[in-house]
Amino acid sequence: MHKRNILILGSTGSIGVNALEVVSRFPERFEVLGLTGFDRDDVLLKQAERFHPKFVGVSSGKVKDVEARLFGKGIKVVNAETELEFLAALADVDIVLIAITGRAALEPFLTAVRSGKTVAPANKEALVMIGDLIMEEAAQNGATVIPVDSEQSAIFQCLQGKDRDFLKKVFLTASGGALKDVDVERFDGLSVARILDHPRWKMGRKITVDSATLMNKGFEVIEAMRLFGLRADQVEVVVHPQAIIHSMVEFCDGSVLAQLGITDMRIPIQFALTYPQRLESGLKGLNFVELKELTFEKPDLKKFPSLALALDVARTGGTLPAVLNAADEVAVESFLNGRIRFTQVYDVVAEVVADHRSVLYSTVEEVLRADQWARERAVEIIEQQAKV
Ligand SMILES: NC(=O)c1ccc[n+]([C@@H]2O[C@H](COP(=O)([O-])OP(=O)(O)OC[C@H]3O[C@@H](n4cnc5c(N)ncnc54)[C@H](OP(=O)(O)O)[C@@H]3O)[C@@H](O)[C@H]2O)c1
Repeated sequence: MHKRNILILGSTGSIGVNALEVVSRFPERFEVLGLTGFDRDDVLLKQAERFHPKFVGVSSGKVKDVEARLFGKGIKVVNAETELEFLAALADVDIVLIAITGRAALEPFLTAVRSGKTVAPANKEALVMIGDLIMEEAAQNGATVIPVDSEQSAIFQCLQGKDRDFLKKVFLTASGGALKDVDVERFDGLSVARILDHPRWKMGRKITVDSATLMNKGFEVIEAMRLFGLRADQVEVVVHPQAIIHSMVEFCDGSVLAQLGITDMRIPIQFALTYPQRLESGLKGLNFVELKELTFEKPDLKKFPSLALALDVARTGGTLPAVLNAADEVAVESFLNGRIRFTQVYDVVAEVVADHRSVLYSTVEEVLRADQWARERAVEIIEQQAKV
């Protein structure tokens, strides 16, 4: 069997570690060609020892030290701040798994689709910013984009073999977030530790905060629009606390297809890496008798204004989604650093969005200008608010 060479950008994070577990299950199918992290060099070095990649990447300040520690092992160390595009374009790379958080994924994502690779994005921020151009580039360059985010993977799976002309809408399911049953009056005093202590999933810090505000679900609405060419009114968010249905697709005849399974990111990761095949995952199946019930509710947009804001932004389009994403990245980082309170994350993002005049764009540069403006504006607002 011809092995497929895989590059994992963000291998030291939650998705990256799960992806390597999947890869290690199928040594006859995958060769790990490159692994990149950023600050967690110890995790990366252990991964390098186990998977023997040709390339590893770390943040610029760590390159020299990692080079010294890998001396004589035949592994080239690259700078993850400047050389991810070089890795994504390597002729030997077949699959690029994008497990980096935030805007940093944008350039390697674009390079991977321009190089005609199979691209498996877990990262949603780049798709929120500029997903329409990414998908256009993918189509022009023969790249295949297979989403890893579980809701998008569910939609992708439901659409297999279906004519898109018959698709009516998608139902994007949401567990409701870690604060679903927490009184809104308590939100202001919630500490970073409390927010990061997600009862169900162990994910990276940024997505855990975004899940608490439900901004993550708003991002997923825009992500689905970009990946599947949908209008905002074709994506409906449904709260489904059991998180067993990962999303659904409704067709024009009224039929609805759903994708179900236990909540384990290794399932959509494996699907993306082995597509179009399905292989034994070794994971638990569903036990419907134990499950007993699957329930559904409307999201509470008053309690979670970040979702309402993201839905408005999705309807407006243009450069506004990139502005939403940039402001959120800055505000979440400031919350994690203890500069602003939990409820101020929404306040900051909403103010930046309100200050922006959205324009239709046709180039990446136009979007990056809006992204830069939003980051600077968010920093200004945080500085003003921090004084209050
Ligand atoms: N976790 C989930 O279950 C899940 C589910 C669906 C979608 N996603 C999406 O997948 C992406 C990754 O999420 P995660 O939870 O795996 O995050 P994470 O645990 O924080 O991992 C992020 C990865 O990106 C690297 N990284 C951070 N900053 C970077 C930069 N500036 N340049 C290059 N690499 C950088 C990190 O390196 P170091 O750790 O070495 O610093 C780490 O390998 C996010 O976009 C998230 O929304 C995650």
